[in-house]
Amino acid sequence: MNNLCVLIMAAGKGTRMKSALPKVLQPVLDRPIIDYVIRNVLSAGISQEDLAVLVGSGGEIVESHIKEFFPNVKILWQHEQLGTGHAVKSAREFWSNYENLIVLNGDLPLMKPDSMKRLISSTENDCTVITFEAENPAAYGRIVREKNSVSIVEYKDASPEQREIHEVNAGCYAFKVKSLSRIIDSITNNNAQKEYYITDALALMNESGMTTGAFIMPESEMQGVNTHSELARVSREMRNEILLRWMNDGVRIADPDTVYISSDAELSRGVVIMPNVQIWGKTRIGEGSVIGSGSILTNAIIGENVRVIAYAVIENSTLKNNVKAGPFCYIRDNTCLEEGAFAGKFVELKNSRIGEGSKVPHLSYMGDATLGHDVNIGAGSITCNYDGENKNKTHIGDNCFIGSNTMFVAPVEVEDGATTAAGSVITQRVPENSLGVGRARQKNIADWSLRNHHHHKTTAEGDK
Ligand code: UD1
Ligand code: CA
Repeated sequence: MNNLCVLIMAAGKGTRMKSALPKVLQPVLDRPIIDYVIRNVLSAGISQEDLAVLVGSGGEIVESHIKEFFPNVKILWQHEQLGTGHAVKSAREFWSNYENLIVLNGDLPLMKPDSMKRLISSTENDCTVITFEAENPAAYGRIVREKNSVSIVEYKDASPEQREIHEVNAGCYAFKVKSLSRIIDSITNNNAQKEYYITDALALMNESGMTTGAFIMPESEMQGVNTHSELARVSREMRNEILLRWMNDGVRIADPDTVYISSDAELSRGVVIMPNVQIWGKTRIGEGSVIGSGSILTNAIIGENVRVIAYAVIENSTLKNNVKAGPFCYIRDNTCLEEGAFAGKFVELKNSRIGEGSKVPHLSYMGDATLGHDVNIGAGSITCNYDGENKNKTHIGDNCFIGSNTMFVAPVEVEDGATTAAGSVITQRVPENSLGVGRARQKNIADWSLRNHHHHKTTAEGDK
């Protein structure tokens, strides 16, 4: 017999969100609510095998999401959502082989591992619940404390006096499985909402001589998400926590009111984040790097002493040490800028490797290209990488000098040390150390202006 398991209830409709997306998939920053809940359970030392998520309403997408990110977490189904008591009962096969069961509402993204550990170790009573003092207790279940016991009265069933109580039920319960099994079939739906309430378990336990208890945690950690305004409040709280953590670790955030950092990101000390920056996904930023205003980084790997100048968008790409990027560049799809490389103004790089010390300073598109070291790409040069069917590769060797406005019609190769003449359309290999010229020769027509009557007149009489 195993010792302890956790059940997350996530089958509810989340009616108050008025959204097609199930409540537990609503995002807090860049992750769905349920991810924070699952990660909290795992951080408290529970293994994925001992954790089940109960899905129902919108369950298919909740299931496929969880399978992708937490493949060993069990998925259980509650096909009809008849209330939280019914939810726990639907999962009976899962928990009946354990000694202790933790039940959690699926909408508590701010709960911390320490609180989870405390709940897990609350095995002295037949049931222990987490409560908090709510500033506005709204529709939360009210905690009714008696001398030696605790019970919960749902808001809609509560008397006017009970509604005055500010201590409320957070939706986290620790049960002794044996005790729960004894009373769970006695939970009825004889109440204002005609639902089976798990909260009724406490009164039933008290009646049959079992013990119940509660401990209080801060409201900031125990806020549930039932409405979009609560979602926004929880997101703000999460964002502030993350920013504070990085600032305590030596990151300078110039204006925390305007900066977003994902819970999955990792920043080193000495990093500077300018206003209006967003850092999403598994972005990593190395020591001493500066991320300029308006930049958006998603799954970016940034080395040390990198300068991301304002308004750079970087996705799924790597910038090695001492790289400079921006302002106004878009770097995406597995691009790698090697040490000391530079991507400048109005430059797009896609699935490309820019070699050490190479520069793409202005108005360029490099797609499916590899550049060696110390290449200079003249302004306006682009790869013509897509022929309507396939993406083709451009290879530019070391120490190449690419004249402004060169078009590389891929697949094509420019060998080490080669130069291209400005305005060239390069359709063939340029051999080592050669000059590739692919443009019409200039022809001058003498005295053309003098013979052009209109032009001559305008010039002579000036602007009219
Ligand atoms: C519940 C508690 C209330 C507590 C509040 C905290 C009950 C009866 N009441 O109320 O005391 O103060 O949480 O937020 O439990 N769910 C299912 N299947 C169902 C119904 C719900 O899986 O049939 C899930 C939901 O997805 C959600 C959780 O259970 O994650 C709680 O459901 P919700 O409807 O939010 O409960 P509340 O009415 O807020
Ligand atoms: Ca709730």
